[in-house]
Amino acid sequence: MSAPAGLRQHCALGRAIAVVAICLLVIVGTYLLSSPAAGDGDTEEEFFSVRRRRRSSVDAGDDDLEAAVRGAAYANGTLIVSVLNRAYADEDGGLLDLFLRSMREGEGTEQLIAHVLLVAMDRPAFLRCRRLGGVRCYQLPAAQDGADDLSSEQLYMSDGFIRMMWRRIRLLGDVLKLGYSFIFTDLDVMWLRNPLPRLEYRAEEEDLLISSDQFNGRPGDIAGNELNTGFFFVASNNRTAALFDEWHAARDRSAGMKEQDVLNDMKRRGALRRLGVRARVLDTARFSGFCQDSRDAREVATVHANCCRTMRAKVADLAAVLAAARRRLDGDGASPVLRWPPHSQCVKSWE
Ligand SMILES: *[C@@H]1O[C@H](CO)[C@@H](O)[C@H](O)[C@H]1NC(C)=O
Ligand SMILES: *[C@@H]1O[C@H](CO)[C@@H](O)[C@H](O)[C@H]1NC(C)=O
Repeated sequence: MSAPAGLRQHCALGRAIAVVAICLLVIVGTYLLSSPAAGDGDTEEEFFSVRRRRRSSVDAGDDDLEAAVRGAAYANGTLIVSVLNRAYADEDGGLLDLFLRSMREGEGTEQLIAHVLLVAMDRPAFLRCRRLGGVRCYQLPAAQDGADDLSSEQLYMSDGFIRMMWRRIRLLGDVLKLGYSFIFTDLDVMWLRNPLPRLEYRAEEEDLLISSDQFNGRPGDIAGNELNTGFFFVASNNRTAALFDEWHAARDRSAGMKEQDVLNDMKRRGALRRLGVRARVLDTARFSGFCQDSRDAREVATVHANCCRTMRAKVADLAAVLAAARRRLDGDGASPVLRWPPHSQCVKSWE
C-alpha cells in the first residue's frame, strides 16, 4: 500500500530542507575553518594565554627560589649553593655522593649540610636529590624553548657544559639579588674541614673571595692569579649583583668560552675595579685543588678536582683523596705535611 500523496509531498519537502540545512552547515563550517582572521585570532589568543601561564609559572619558580634559599640560609643570610644535573647525581658513588660524604666525614662540616641548597638542572637530578633526605633541593624551572636538556654528562667545554655554566651564573645572580650571600661550590670539591672560619671574611670590607688554580702567594693580586669559579664566597650587595649581571650579559659575545674564562677576561679589563668589587684570592694551602696541592695538613679545608677532564677520573681521584683524609684524621694526624695520592686518573683524562 503506497503512502498518500500529501505525505509523500511532505517527505520531499523535509528532505529538501535537510539538504539545504546540511549545505548551510558545510558552507558556514568551511568558512569558519578557512577564514584566516577567525582562525589566527583564536590560535593567537590561545598562544598568548599559554605564554602567560608559562611566565607566571616562571615567576612562581622565583618565589620557590626565594623560599628554598631562605630555608637553607643561616640567620645572617649566608648559605652554600651547588648545582647538579642527572649525570652528577648518579646513584652509586657519583660526585654528589662523594661531595655529601666529604661533608659528613669532614671536621666540623656535617652541621653545614643543613645550609646547603642543591640546585637541580633537570627533573631526574631533582628527584635523586629529594631521595637523599636531609638536603635542600630546588629545581631550576625548565627553559621555555625546551632547548636546554642538560641532563647528560656535559663534557668539559662541550656546548652543554657551557650552557649549564651560564644558567648557573644567572641563578647565582638571582640569589644575590634576593639579598643572600653564599659560598658556591662545585660538587667536585671535597669539604674536609669547615671552610667558613678559614675564609677569614671581613664583612663590610670584602665582596668576593675566590679560589685559584695556581696561587701566587699574593691574595690581593687579582690580576696575577687566574681565578677559579669552582669555589668562591660572594657577599650580596649592589656591586656583586652588578658584577653577576655583567658577567651573564657577556655570554653573548663570548661564544665558546666558559664563564670562568669570561670572568678572568673581565678582570683583566678592569671590571672588578670599575664596579668597585673588592676581591681576594684564596690560598691553595687552604682551598686546594689538583692543579696545585696543599701541603698543609692543618689548614686544608677543601680539595677541588680541577685540572681534570672527565667525571669518571674526578670520582676515582677524589675517592682516593677522601680515603687519605680519613686516614689522616683517624691516624697520623700529627704529621703537618700532607701527602696526597697521585691524581693519576685526572692526569690520564687529558690523553
Ligand atoms: C653566618 O653565620 C654562620 C653561622 O654562625 C657563620 O659561620 C658564618 O661565618 C656567617 N657568615 C658570614 C658571611 O658572616
Ligand atoms: C645600592 O643599594 C642601595 C640600597 O642598599 C640603594 O639605595 C642604592 O640606590 C644602590 N645603588 C646602586 C648604584 O644601585
